[in-house]
Amino acid sequence: MSHQATALAHPNIALAKYWGKVPGSDNAPAVPSLSVTLAGMTTTTTVEFSADFPADHLELNGAEADATALRRASGLLDEVRAEAGLKVPARIRSRNDFPTAAGLASSASGFAALAVAARSAAGLPRDPARESNLARRASASSARSLFGGFVELAAGRENEHRFLPAQQVAPPDALPLRVLVAVTTERIKDTPSTGGMNHTAATSPYYQAWVAHAPRLFERVRAAVLAADLEALGVAAEESAFAMHASAIAAAPAVLYWLGPTVEVIAAVRGLRASGVGAWCTMDAGPHVKVLCAPPDAARVASTLAAIPGVLRVLTASPGEGARLLGAEAST
Ligand code: ADP
Ligand code: DP6
Repeated sequence: MSHQATALAHPNIALAKYWGKVPGSDNAPAVPSLSVTLAGMTTTTTVEFSADFPADHLELNGAEADATALRRASGLLDEVRAEAGLKVPARIRSRNDFPTAAGLASSASGFAALAVAARSAAGLPRDPARESNLARRASASSARSLFGGFVELAAGRENEHRFLPAQQVAPPDALPLRVLVAVTTERIKDTPSTGGMNHTAATSPYYQAWVAHAPRLFERVRAAVLAADLEALGVAAEESAFAMHASAIAAAPAVLYWLGPTVEVIAAVRGLRASGVGAWCTMDAGPHVKVLCAPPDAARVASTLAAIPGVLRVLTASPGEGARLLGAEAST
C-alpha cells in the first residue's frame, strides 16, 4: 500500500529582505520580510510513502539529488511522519522549470511544494499555515511561497518561534506589477543563503545595524503594497536589498554575491529611472537582478536589460498564486 500526492509551488522574491536568524531558534528570522509570489516559474513535486522503499530518496530534475539536498528534504519528511504517526520511507520526485540553486529561489518553491505534497501524502488535511510553518523550518523564505500575492513573515520572538507561519498581506492583483529577472550566470551559487547570513551575523560590524533598520524598511514596503503605490514600493524594496547586501559585504571575509553584469544592470535601472521609466532593482543571495516595474513598462525595461553585455536572458514574472495540491491517491 502506498500513498502519494503531487503539489505545485512558485518561488517568491523578497521586497523586504530576510537576512539573519534568531540565535538558538528553530530557523526563525531575525527580521520581518515581505515578498511577492511569482507566477511563471514553477516547482512540481510528488511524494510517495511506502513500506516497500528502503530509505528516503530524492530525485531532483530527473537525477538523484546530492546528500545535502536529501538530508534537508528528509528533515521535513521526519516532521510530517511524526505528526501523522507514519514510520515508512518516502520517494520524492521534483522538478523546477527554472535554474536550481542559482539564486532564483528554487529552495522557496521546492520546500513549499514538498510541504504540501508530503503532508497530503501522509493523509494530513490541507492547512496552509501548518505547511508554511513546516516549510519555514527547512528554509525560511519558503514559508512565504505557501501563499499567493504579497506575503509577510514576521520576525521570530524568543519563546514563541516554534509556530511561525507566513501570511498573505494582499492578493496577487492588489498592485499591477511585473518582475523582470536579468539572469547573469547559469552557475550554481558559491555561498548558499544560510551560510551567507550566518557568516554575516557572526562577523559583519553592520549586521546589528541591519537588524535594527530592517523592520522600518519592512513597514514601508508593507504600507506601499497596501496603498498600491508602486513607486514607494520600488524605492523601499531597493533600499532593503542594498542594506542587506551592505551588511553581507561588510562581513569578514566579505559575502559578495554580485558579478560585473549585476552592477551593470543596477546602473541601467538607475539610467531608466533618470529617463522617467519607473524601474527598481532587488538582488538576493546570487548575482541576478530582479527589476520591478509597471506592466506597461515591462517590454521597454526587458529590452534594455537584454541588451546589457553579460545578461544571458530576461525572464518575466507576475504576482502569482500560493502552493496548491494537484492530486492525491492511495494505491495497493
Ligand atoms: P536557490 O537560490 O535556488 O534557492 P539555494 O542554494 O538557497 O538556492 O537552495 C537550493 C537548494 O534547495 C537545493 O540544493 C536543494 O537542497 C533545495 N531545493 C531546490 N529545489 C528543490 C526541490 N524542487 N525540491 C526539494 N529541494 C529543493
Ligand atoms: C536573500 O530562506 O534561503 O533570499 O532559511 O537559511 O534556508 P534559510 O535561508 P533562505 O534565505 C533567503 C534570503 C534572501 C532574502 C529573502 O528571501 O527574504
